[in-house]
Amino acid sequence: MYYNKLMERKKKISIIGSTGSIGTQALEVISKLQDKFEIIALAGGNNIDLLLEQAEKFKPKYICCNKIENHKILKQVQNDKNFQWKILHGTEGLEEICSNRENDIILVACSGKIGLKPTLKAIENGIDIALANKETLVMAGDIVMEKARKNNVKIIPVDSEHSAIHQCIKDIAQVEKLIITASGGPFLKKTIEEMKSATVEQTLAHPRWNMGKKITVDSATLMNKGLEIIEAHHLFGIDYDDIEVVIHPQSIVHSAIEYKDGSVIAQLGLPSMHIPIQYAISYPERFEGIKSKSFSFSEIARLDFEKPDYEKFPTVQLAFKAGRLGGTATACLNAANEEAVFAFLDGKIKLYQIYEITKKIFDEHNIIKNPTIDDIFEIDITTREKTKQLIASL
Ligand SMILES: NC(=O)c1ccc[n+]([C@@H]2O[C@H](COP(=O)([O-])OP(=O)(O)OC[C@H]3O[C@@H](n4cnc5c(N)ncnc54)[C@H](OP(=O)(O)O)[C@@H]3O)[C@@H](O)[C@H]2O)c1
Repeated sequence: MYYNKLMERKKKISIIGSTGSIGTQALEVISKLQDKFEIIALAGGNNIDLLLEQAEKFKPKYICCNKIENHKILKQVQNDKNFQWKILHGTEGLEEICSNRENDIILVACSGKIGLKPTLKAIENGIDIALANKETLVMAGDIVMEKARKNNVKIIPVDSEHSAIHQCIKDIAQVEKLIITASGGPFLKKTIEEMKSATVEQTLAHPRWNMGKKITVDSATLMNKGLEIIEAHHLFGIDYDDIEVVIHPQSIVHSAIEYKDGSVIAQLGLPSMHIPIQYAISYPERFEGIKSKSFSFSEIARLDFEKPDYEKFPTVQLAFKAGRLGGTATACLNAANEEAVFAFLDGKIKLYQIYEITKKIFDEHNIIKNPTIDDIFEIDITTREKTKQLIASL
């Protein structure tokens, strides 16, 4: 009934992180589907030139930036050009957007912990979420999913692996296991020694996907797959023992599920984030959209699969361990890893030290078993402080 009504009018959407890799691709999708979507709000961080360009094109009611200094610049441009949008900033601005029940769906496409509070606000207001920001579920998956269930809110994944699983699952009770694919990143065929001396430039040269810097580094260490395991556990309510990771360098099979009777259903497609983004914001409908060319098995010719080398990529098993421990373990893992990734990008540590630092901080963490959301934010802050101190002491 609700969706029948929706089909008669444009779907109202806000994008948190519109200036990033996912956000800009979402706007490319929406450009092709302008008769299907109306943008209520666009929110970015520091890139206010791009935010302004997007706002001029898509004419949202609200724009939001990260801090007061950028707010002032946006206000000046608004006065000069007589633009009508309301300007917001900071977490309060994001929460105001996510409290606006005019929205049918909010695409949470910012990076890092910034996504958690606005997501919770949208859920409290009964607004569906297209979720790219995996940190939200890694930090507080139990709380977020429980709130979504209580408020009858759909969380539709944007991550290509989880989108694949979402598309394959009919009856979760019949599922034996999830098979999550990983491209293996730029160091799949390199030795551990070569990985140890990898530069930032080599690490950011992902063979298949063009993404933001944080997730690209995580893809090189395979921590991204670790975070995705935790994300999948929360999204689909699947036990960690029933999640398998397989390396698939071509990134054509985006993930699969095995049913109890032995049938395996996989979702395939060319490696483009436009498709899962479009699926998430259009769900349960499917539109023609942006697909650049038709899928051809004969052009692809071969698909390879192999077990991950956990000696080279120990991050995945650390994430499994954190997920099984539960409570604040995954928030700690997320915060320590993120700070270590930033330090690597700043040239302060080597690539392999990301894992060593994350593991050390994680091993010292005293887990709170059933944390409140305040506990999680507290652990996030203290873990980041400890990680920075450890990095400074090296
Ligand atoms: N990229 C992918 O293909 C991909 C695939 C699957 C999942 N994901 C997930 O999607 C999320 C975004 O990834 P990404 O690659 O798109 O990252 P990204 O390119 O780094 O973009 C991050 C976005 O967040 C915004 N942002 C940063 N601080 C903010 C703040 N305080 N308030 C509001 N917005 C803020 C950035 O704004 P400015 O740039 O203006 O500072 C930018 O728009 C991550 O959680 C990632 O794991 C990404």
